[in-house]
Amino acid sequence: MAEAQAQQRGGIADDGFAEAKSGVRYEVDGEIATITLARPEKRNAQTFATWSALARIGESLPEQVRVVVVKGEGPSFSAGIDLRMFTSEGVPGQGSFSTAATLGDAGFEQRIRQAQAGFLWLRRPEIVSIAAVQGHAIGAGFQLALSCDLRIVADDVAFCMKEPALGLVPDLTGTKPLVELVGLAKAIDICLTARTVHADEAMRIGLAEQVVARGDLEQAVSDKVAALLSVNRDAAVATKRLLQGARQRTLEEQSVAEGIEQAARIKALFG
Ligand code: CAA
Repeated sequence: MAEAQAQQRGGIADDGFAEAKSGVRYEVDGEIATITLARPEKRNAQTFATWSALARIGESLPEQVRVVVVKGEGPSFSAGIDLRMFTSEGVPGQGSFSTAATLGDAGFEQRIRQAQAGFLWLRRPEIVSIAAVQGHAIGAGFQLALSCDLRIVADDVAFCMKEPALGLVPDLTGTKPLVELVGLAKAIDICLTARTVHADEAMRIGLAEQVVARGDLEQAVSDKVAALLSVNRDAAVATKRLLQGARQRTLEEQSVAEGIEQAARIKALFG
């Protein structure tokens, strides 16, 4: 089976860029973009090509897109980094951890920043990103789900931050959203034991917004997309910006920010 396809409807032309090796399929349909990890036979294991493809999608996302859905084909959302990275052969054309270890500090930092770029854009105020998660979401798979604004999960979901068990740290932007969602103590518990978080707990501790039966996942996501698209676009962007900034601001600063955003809304609507 072809490892990946790049498809876009309405938007930029298919240029067959990094998806050729990435295992990522990408479709734009009006205001909705769907990113599918499409290597189910390898449980959607991720490589640097996956992260480059994600970054390229973020860079070229058409302006009309308001909602981005990230999902995985097959039994697992994603089994994390491709385990060939741990071997001396590595992933063909993409090296291994052994080759990464030979990079100088600047080269290593650059490589990690490139990988992280595939995850960071999913938090932009202009979009709402939804991870549709079934089965295993391990390591990089867990972090990809964490990089989205919302997680709608199937009742068989199994989140696991396995990196510490493999001698690594989670470095694909997942630590901050994890702490913000579940609190420091629970994040330490989850990461430093590399234990699995199942659906009930995920819902209880705030890792998931919604748990549904496996067969209902697609419908639940599409209902959420419709609900998100039903509100005023500019108000949604301004509100997300406010909510994202709330934690860093004092109550007084946040109140000022609300006033500024509202003034702009009222002028736009009634001015
Ligand atoms: N990398 C490469 N191949 C993988 C893979 C991975 N991460 N996970 C699964 N596969 C492959 C298997 O080798 C197998 O391939 P073959 O059919 O060619 O043998 C195929 O996918 C199916 O795997 P399983 O038979 O194991 O499938 P399963 O449904 O029974 O189990 C699973 C699924 C629990 C996810 C199990 O495959 C598993 O534990 N995978 C490894 C998970 C892992 O340790 N990931 C690394 C996380 S750490 C990380 O991601 C680090 C980072 O960001 C820096």
